[in-house]
Formats: sequence, structure tokens, C-alpha cells
Amino acid sequence: MTTGKNAKLHERYKRALPSFLSPYYADPIQIDRGQGGYVFEPDGTKYLDFFGGVLTTMVGHNNPVVTKAVQEQAAKVMHTSSLYLSEPMIELAEKIADLSGIPDARVFLTPSGTEANDAALLFATSYRKSNQILAMRNSYHGRSFSTQAITSHSAWSSTSISGLQVTFVQGPYQLRSPHPELDGAAYTQSCVDDLSQLLTMTSAGDVAALIAEPIQGVGGFATPPDGFFGAMKKELDNAGILYISDEVQTGWGRTGDNFWGYQAHGIVPDMLTFAKGVGNGITLAGVVARAEVVDTIKVLNFSTFGGNPLSAAGGLATINYVLDNNLQANAKAMGDRFRSGLDAMAAKHDWIAEVRGRGLMQAFETVAPGTMEPSPAHATAMLEGTKTHGLLVGKGGLYGNVVRMAPMLDVNAAEIDEALDALQAAADTVKA
Ligand SMILES: Cc1ncc(COP(=O)(O)O)c(C=O)c1O
Repeated sequence: MTTGKNAKLHERYKRALPSFLSPYYADPIQIDRGQGGYVFEPDGTKYLDFFGGVLTTMVGHNNPVVTKAVQEQAAKVMHTSSLYLSEPMIELAEKIADLSGIPDARVFLTPSGTEANDAALLFATSYRKSNQILAMRNSYHGRSFSTQAITSHSAWSSTSISGLQVTFVQGPYQLRSPHPELDGAAYTQSCVDDLSQLLTMTSAGDVAALIAEPIQGVGGFATPPDGFFGAMKKELDNAGILYISDEVQTGWGRTGDNFWGYQAHGIVPDMLTFAKGVGNGITLAGVVARAEVVDTIKVLNFSTFGGNPLSAAGGLATINYVLDNNLQANAKAMGDRFRSGLDAMAAKHDWIAEVRGRGLMQAFETVAPGTMEPSPAHATAMLEGTKTHGLLVGKGGLYGNVVRMAPMLDVNAAEIDEALDALQAAADTVKA
């Protein structure tokens, strides 16, 4: 039973929405408006937002450039569909095709990351004439029937029923793999060896594709060694298996060193999927793939809302804002500043097993003090504690024991330091 100032709204939430949805916090907060890196409750209570509604508000709340573009488009025409020519839709597809790094790219626009991954599965299975898919352990790729089948995260796996035959490959979550002690190169090799054996032992003929997040989002920002997916892809290439990079959380420069997560691995994927941050909150997602792969689909395939002018205008404004302001470089600089503060904090607390992530995608995993036993209680205490100190962070990880942070790409040094102060203050009151 909620007792806080938003108790009544929380009761209505519970009555109107399914029970599998639940808001963060014992006393959930109500976001009424946002400005830059901050959000506000109706009574004016202010929070520094280091989660962006799950890495989705990417260039600040009420970003003047994005808001203006969306408002102007809304006043012109909000919907056309791909049955008609629409300048924003086509310009957006051209821009994303260019940025993707994929040769002869085609872009299929969808309203959500789930549908983007669903489309990628459709293309891959049709192109390869196979229903066999490889996905990584500890992965999350969406909520629908097909994307649940490639999700390897018990807390998020709603059903085991599927028309796909999926094998889960060992990978990015080294901390809880059979070989946490290996260095990056040796760990990568052990996973490649496992993949190789797996292809020999468990596949029946051609496998369609491997889909992987460069850094596992819901999985608690589990980050493989650089080059990991490059080494995996060599095995895949030998068998003609497509490689799909799910960049829903890692795209658009968030990881600092790279514009796409896949670039840390020295490869170009056959397909990439994107969503979340690209529209700064406007529903926009899609899949990019070589024409020969997409064109396997010979019948009509259509998404009513995919690429509608409103989301396309929001997407173009967001991408241009990222590029014009070189926010990838900011993600690198601010990510480094944030990471050193987090490392210093972690060094003081034996209930933090690991700090991980890249750029402005940082997390720490909580354990029972001095052990490797997952401690979701510590992560929850940090979530509640940071809220008390005016900071919003997220939770994740297989056991709900990872605190995830993903500030806006245009976050500044003062905001990073403010977040670190709030995290320190919360950590100091967490009972070991
Ligand atoms: C890596 C990844 N892929 C796909 C999805 C699904 O995206 P959506 O919630 O927009 O359907 C998510 C959502 O969290 C995600 O993190």
C-alpha cells in the first residue's frame, strides 16, 4: 500500500494497468514535466534524471530543437503512412542508412524496438530459410512473442513457446560466466570455442543469425571485451550466419568511444536495430540491413506508424542535435568523469562487485558484502537512497541487483558531480 503524496495516482495505476507493470520506488514519483537533465513532480520536487525513461530521453527533456521540430510537424501533418511520399520519413531513412555503416543499406522504420527486432528476425529467417537463431545469454530484445524467444533473462521471459529454435551463446556477462577469472582475450577465445562446438553439436543445418546487444541493457550493462563480437563473427562468417547488432540502447554515440556499439568489435553487422533514444521520447525505431537481405520479403509488409512524419521529424532533429553538438565526444568525456567517480565509490563498499559499462552507460552490481551472492536489496536501497538525494537511476540485471545509469548525452560536468554526490550520500547510508 502506497502512503506517499502520489498514493491515489498509484492506486489508479494498479487498477487500470496490468499487474506485470509496476512503477519504481515504494512511493512512486509522478513526472509532470522535464527540462534539460531534470524532471519535476507537480508540486515542484526536482530530480536529476540519470535514466531518461530507460535511455530514451537522450538529448534532454523539452530540448528546444526537438520540441520545435515536432511541434512544427504536428501543425503540418501528423500521419501519412508509407503509401505516400513523405520528406521527413525519406530523409530520416537516408540519414540512418548513411550513419549505419552497412553497405547498400535499406531502413525499415517501426514504432518500437521490439518490432524492429521482430522485423530483423523476419528478414534473417527468410533470407537464410531457417528458423534457427542464436542469441546471447542474459539478453533482452523485446516484449513480443518472437522477441521473447530470443530473450535470455528469466525475469523477463514470459513464455517458452515459439516457432523459432533458439540457442543461447555464452558471452558478455563474464562476471557470472564459468570463466570470470580469464583476461579479455582468453575469455573471448573460450566463448568462440564454445560457439564453434555449439554450431557443430546443436544446430540442424543452416542457422539464420546471431542477434546480440553490444552492451546488454536489461542484463545490467554487461560489457564484453573489445573485439569479442569480431571474434564471434569470424565463426559466423564461416557458416554464412548473419550477425544482427541490437543497438537499441548502445546507438547514437552513447558509449562515447563509438557511434555504434558494434564499432568496439572491429566489424560491420549484417543488420542493426535501433529505438529508444533516436526520437528523444517520440516513438521511433527500425532495422537497417543490406538490400539483398531485406528484399527477400517479396510480399507486402507494412507498419502503419513506422516512419510517420511526426516521429521522423523528432528523429531527424534528435540525430542532427547529436551530430551538430558532437555529443559522442561529450559522452566520452562525461562518461570518463562519471566512471572515475563510480570507481572511487565502489572501492569504499564491499557490496559492489563490479562497475561496468562504457561512456554514458554505466552500472554497478550489488552483492552480499564480500561475497558474489547477488543482493537486490542493496540495489533497491540505492534506488530509494538516490531518490531521497534528488537523483533518478535505474535497476536491472538478472537478479535485479544492478544499478544502471544513463544520463542525457549532453549532460555537463556539474550534473555528473551532482549525481556522484547523491550516489555517495546514498551509498554511505546503505547498511552493509
Ligand atoms: C536491447 C533492447 N532491445 C529491444 C528492446 C525493446 O524495445 P521496445 O521496448 O521499444 O519495444 C529493448 C527495450 O528495453 C532493449 O533494451
